[in-house]
Amino acid sequence: MTFIITVTGKGGTGKTLIASLIVKHLTRMFKDSSILVVDADSNTNLNCALGISFKKTLGDLREEFINPPDSSSGAKDLYFESMLYEEVLVESEYFDFIAMGRPEGPGCYCYVNHLLRHALDRLTKNYDFVVIDCEAGLEHLSRRTMRNIDVMLIVVDSSIRSIITAERIRELSKELELSVGNIYVVINRVNKHILPQLLEELLRRDFKIIGSIPEDPMVIDYDFKGKPLIDLPDNSLAVKSVGDILSRLYPLIKPMI
Ligand SMILES: Nc1ncnc2c1ncn2[C@@H]1O[C@H](COP(=O)(O)OP(=O)(O)O)[C@@H](O)[C@H]1O
Ligand SMILES: [Mg+2]
Repeated sequence: MTFIITVTGKGGTGKTLIASLIVKHLTRMFKDSSILVVDADSNTNLNCALGISFKKTLGDLREEFINPPDSSSGAKDLYFESMLYEEVLVESEYFDFIAMGRPEGPGCYCYVNHLLRHALDRLTKNYDFVVIDCEAGLEHLSRRTMRNIDVMLIVVDSSIRSIITAERIRELSKELELSVGNIYVVINRVNKHILPQLLEELLRRDFKIIGSIPEDPMVIDYDFKGKPLIDLPDNSLAVKSVGDILSRLYPLIKPMI
């Protein structure tokens, strides 16, 4: 069984920070488990937070296959899959990584999307965990595999716009007929003056809140120095808060592993 966690929310709310710290904790909490990390934001930057580099995005590979090579369909399938493993999948010590890249341009992608769906289906099944850093449009979740999401975390900050975006994301996931086990809100850069009103707005919209993360000076320092956020120390406020969130998710994860 693969446990799929997706982190979504308005741009700039802290999805990439949170996704990278989820990976940090999972690698420790479940030492022998395999983890695939997916950057499903077209503005690929999760790799920096994870301290790794990549050669190609899945979008790059898709462009190469838009005019399929002239061979039997079985051979094309295999060729596509071998390229996915060789050129897109990054294997690092504790987790693997793929970047989805830009959504498709004009042209007919039916054929390549078919290849993609099958290849991704097979790929994700190899892992115990898939962690997806996803833009608010859920673009990459809509047409692909990974439709069975166990936990969707929607990140909000102290702005009403981030709450409105959270509502849109919840609606969109219904429209796209994604199967989402649980949707939870994470409040990032929580501000104690605005918190009571923020909670009221969230509860009025029937959101369940799984935790909050304060503004973390260590994150600001790492950002400024360009250091990978996954390397933040255990006494970082953000690391601790994401750890608390994962402990709360543990009862959901436990039966699956
Ligand atoms: N709790 C926090 N404390 C300090 N800086 C934060 C915090 N959350 C996010 N940031 C910083 O704010 C910026 C935007 O966050 P990011 O995770 O990139 O957002 P998103 O992926 O949602 O666009 C990044 O530089 C990030 O490191
Ligand atoms: Mg991001």
